[in-house]
Amino acid sequence: MARLQPWPLFWLLRLPILRGSAPAVAGVDPEARFPDYDCIRVSRREASQLLPWQEWLEALEAPGPGGWLDKSHPYLALLASDSSRDQALEECPVGLLMADLLTALACYETGDAGCYTLFEPNVRSGLKFLGMRVLMGTRWPVYDAINSDTWKRRRQSENGERQDGLEEAAAVVEAKYLGIDCRVSDGLSSWGREEQPVLDWDRFKAVFNAADWYQAAVDTAYGPELEQGWREAALQCPLGFATANLIKAMLCSHTESICFRAHATMIAQVMEDIPLHLVAGSGWPVLHLLGHVSRVVRRHRFQLDFHPQELLEATQTSSASTSMLDLAECLPALRAAAKQTASKLGGPELVFATMAHGARFSPYVARFIARARALGIGDSLVVFCLDDGAYSECKAVKGHCVRGSPSILNKFTLPLVLLRRGLGVMWLDLDVFLFRSPLPAVVRQLSKGSYDLLVSGSFAVDCICSGIVVFLATERTTHWLEHLLAWMYEHPYEHDQKAFSAFLRAGERVAFDHELTVPVELVPAWSFLDPETEFVSARHVEVAGWTGDPDNIVAFHMLHGDSDDTHAGRQFAARNGLGVGYTPLLDLFFNQTELPELYTTPVLPHRISEELREALMRSRWPSQRPTSPGRCNETVPMRF
Ligand SMILES: *[C@@H]1O[C@H](CO)[C@@H](O)[C@H](O)[C@H]1NC(C)=O
Ligand SMILES: *[C@@H]1O[C@H](CO)[C@@H](O)[C@H](O)[C@H]1NC(C)=O
Repeated sequence: MARLQPWPLFWLLRLPILRGSAPAVAGVDPEARFPDYDCIRVSRREASQLLPWQEWLEALEAPGPGGWLDKSHPYLALLASDSSRDQALEECPVGLLMADLLTALACYETGDAGCYTLFEPNVRSGLKFLGMRVLMGTRWPVYDAINSDTWKRRRQSENGERQDGLEEAAAVVEAKYLGIDCRVSDGLSSWGREEQPVLDWDRFKAVFNAADWYQAAVDTAYGPELEQGWREAALQCPLGFATANLIKAMLCSHTESICFRAHATMIAQVMEDIPLHLVAGSGWPVLHLLGHVSRVVRRHRFQLDFHPQELLEATQTSSASTSMLDLAECLPALRAAAKQTASKLGGPELVFATMAHGARFSPYVARFIARARALGIGDSLVVFCLDDGAYSECKAVKGHCVRGSPSILNKFTLPLVLLRRGLGVMWLDLDVFLFRSPLPAVVRQLSKGSYDLLVSGSFAVDCICSGIVVFLATERTTHWLEHLLAWMYEHPYEHDQKAFSAFLRAGERVAFDHELTVPVELVPAWSFLDPETEFVSARHVEVAGWTGDPDNIVAFHMLHGDSDDTHAGRQFAARNGLGVGYTPLLDLFFNQTELPELYTTPVLPHRISEELREALMRSRWPSQRPTSPGRCNETVPMRF
């Protein structure tokens, strides 16, 4: 049988979609800066002629009878020829991978080894080219489909006999690795000396049979045996090694995400070499973990509310997004209000911005706006309303409301769009309670130097806290934020504050320095907003808090932690004791139904409520801020 067109390297390099993280050059297609991996954007739909990718994706996502294969028959039929493969690669690489995978599974199920060996290698090439970073973020259910029951059903129906025509594949693996069953007691390594097992592989494999395998798996993955013998381990037991790397990828994307790429590369290497039916039949939970790890560490999808053109260019496009239309409507009023306060205080023109979604935050949008109004900054406040609840709260009090959908990326998209249109932005997370107008403190800080950006910080360490940020409308800030957003977009597991810190060179690391797309000489000149008394955080984490006179507090950040709301984030917090002594401060400060003056007058919360005073005082340090606070740097050593 003829070989299918594989995933030719030159094709992929030619595709704008995989050049997404290239440094910005004037004139670069905005669509290519934010690649549409899911193939759902309007621009993409218009350019797609082979098949309606979005329609297929939605069919796959729709609940109801029929498996993925049943739902895909009409689309797979359109992909049968070599020339259509080329075009599919150009139009929607992830969709092509899905097609190859479903076809390979169907061939395996019917025992058609010829067909299986034709398609299965393409699946592996596709997995490698797209990589875990893209496949964990895409809506296409590649990682769910790959963990298929078909592997098991087929094996059972074979009664333990190998399928005809698949021996060749197994032989290739055995030539490179010692074997994939990881039994090395009397084996010889590929370089001819006797091999000792790096690890008790059977015991490691058995760990995953327990319901709560997490800690035991982490202990082995980061254990001394693998630390010392990882090179041998990779040859001796490639799938055990890949499993350990999956565990590490999961953990490190929550701690030091800089190491994610190394683990993803190791996993990809093993996956490229070993045919999927052998992986599935090995007893190692690799195919299961790909989906699991993706689900627990994913923080966002490849989805934007503003069009790329709106993010990257100030000019209006003909078919604006809903978010842009909403913003355009309130922009003149925001601009006028920002101008007015600036002329009064002699500072920069600043728009205040926040965002909200979900049952914990949306109900407080109206009071957040009301408090801002009580402090005289309500007219220049715009709220990014990421669900209907937030939007109706905002509309009910006639705020400046911009509709969008839930995504942590929006913490950067709205400021970027405003910066592009010449407006500075003071970002306030919705879990910030304003004690007074922040403008005088901002103006005072700006008078101390020539800054592009101000950011709040922690009390006991010199870490930034991106819950409160002043972005000044300079070219440097705009360029920097554009790159930060593009980086976030391309890394679905990345934590917004960590990336923010890394791009500012403020201590945390998400990549090696040369990989960061803003070189150090183009980083905005930045400084901290006073982290001792004025712009402070609740002591929900040990390094936060405040000291001094509560009357001098400007903004109290309650660290309600929305962006850390991933499953693994909660698991990590629970295991590491974060959140001990946690009080629902958000409700305490924003749901004082008996104290309406809190939201209609500039009264200070601790002056009218003993309950609020106590809550505030629980975060107070008895001593001054250390003169040399702890360094904000890596917390987990990198180990492969
Ligand atoms: C706010 O308080 C009211 C009255 O105590 C309660 O009914 C409501 O559920 C609270 N809202 C939230 C979001 O907790
Ligand atoms: C930061 O780095 C310094 C010097 O390398 C080290 O002594 C310190 O322990 C590190 N801090 C953290 C929190 O890891």
